Amino acid sequence: MRLSADELQRFGEALGRDLAGPVVIGLSGELGTGKTTLVQAICEGLGARVLATSPTYALVHHYETSDGRPVYHVDCYRLKSPDEARDLAFEDMVRDGAIVLIEWPERAGPWTPPLDRHFRLSYGELPDIRELEEVR
Ligand SMILES: Nc1ncnc2c1ncn2[C@@H]1O[C@H](COP(=O)(O)OP(=O)(O)OP(=O)(O)O)[C@@H](O)[C@H]1O
Ligand SMILES: [Mg+2]
Repeated sequence: MRLSADELQRFGEALGRDLAGPVVIGLSGELGTGKTTLVQAICEGLGARVLATSPTYALVHHYETSDGRPVYHVDCYRLKSPDEARDLAFEDMVRDGAIVLIEWPERAGPWTPPLDRHFRLSYGELPDIRELEEVR
């Protein structure tokens, strides 16, 4: 589907409102297509507040919903090799019942946890429109 920035925001918020952990969502797509924008909208829908950005792994942002459920936003773009993703401990996040949102999941190679949902964003023909598809 083709979405403006506002529409992508509303899609993300609606998705976030319905999410319950443990759940893993992958977000793929070229640089600047709106993956982080979508993650932020999902977090707003969840009513999540920032807990911490781990100093060790700046790739991981930790949030918590108002009722105390953990939310992780992980950006795998800057992994130098898939094996660096081992230390991200995706398994622990899932075991804790977290909502896990992963940008560039393919970069984590075999360490990518099974994705419950996988979205792909791409540029449309207009500058401020993005194409959003669910990968199945
Ligand atoms: N329809 C749209 N949907 C989402 N973002 C849009 C749209 N139109 C314009 N934008 C702009 O595109 C940019 C998307 O940036 P964002 O950081 O979310 O992308 P990204 O996919 O996370 O990039 P990266 O791969 O570098 O992490 C923002 O500046 C946003 O304002
Ligand atoms: Mg991003």
